[in-house]
Amino acid sequence: MTETAIIAQELQFHWASGTPVLQSCSFEVPKGEFWMLLGTNGSGKSTLLRVLAGLLSPQAGAFTIAPPVGFVFQNPDHQLVMPTVGADVAFGLVEEQLPYSQIRQRVSEALSAVSLTHLQRRPIYALSGGQKQRVAIAGAIARHCQVLLLDEPTALLDADSQLSLVAQVRQLIKERGLTALWVTHRLDELDYCDGAFLLEAGRVVDQGDPARLRHRLIQTSVAIA
Ligand SMILES: Nc1ncnc2c1ncn2[C@@H]1O[C@H](COP(=O)(O)OP(=O)(O)OP(=O)(O)O)[C@@H](O)[C@H]1O
Ligand SMILES: [Mg+2]
Repeated sequence: MTETAIIAQELQFHWASGTPVLQSCSFEVPKGEFWMLLGTNGSGKSTLLRVLAGLLSPQAGAFTIAPPVGFVFQNPDHQLVMPTVGADVAFGLVEEQLPYSQIRQRVSEALSAVSLTHLQRRPIYALSGGQKQRVAIAGAIARHCQVLLLDEPTALLDADSQLSLVAQVRQLIKERGLTALWVTHRLDELDYCDGAFLLEAGRVVDQGDPARLRHRLIQTSVAIA
């Protein structure tokens, strides 16, 4: 039987204003797979990721997710807090109170996983957008996260860095048996995932084969245009 890394069951979430955002939202992501989450603006994608990361509490429903969970934001400048690459990756390990030698080893291993070893001492401000996203991902790898939740990590990247990041994340997932849920509006990224969910008004209305979902969304946008 396939192991499941993320299970969401009938999740409900509404803001204090009462506006429902997630409604009977259910889905599963198998361990070791790379799934994407699609949906129009305001359909609840970021809210769902924040619920799964434990940053928001659902009013009803339940979820399980294999810990530790890593979160990657759309804008890395909201995530990276230390002055240099190596210090930022190490910062995520503070809570674990590891001996210095282990911290050093985890940081160098995580930077190697995202091909940034040569930039360990580089100031964060001197990185490109794609490099910053890879530092954020290295932070999760250093913490030995089993699941990565990525909220439009390529939204601010140019086309080349976008496809190189999605390819690298796919490779990391497959090499390390990690699981990822990646939010995107960019349909060309669907070529890299194992499956996708389509969210509409806080509900999963379609899921499965990325090529089929891509086709469905292209047809819909042609019909709207
Ligand atoms: N802090 C907040 N307080 C109140 N309402 C919010 C808050 N954050 C988001 N919302 C509302 O919740 C709904 C879902 O927002 P969410 O950010 O999850 O959508 P999304 O699918 O991620 O959209 P996008 O594609 O634009 O990122 C929207 O109607 C949004 O206006
Ligand atoms: Mg969003």
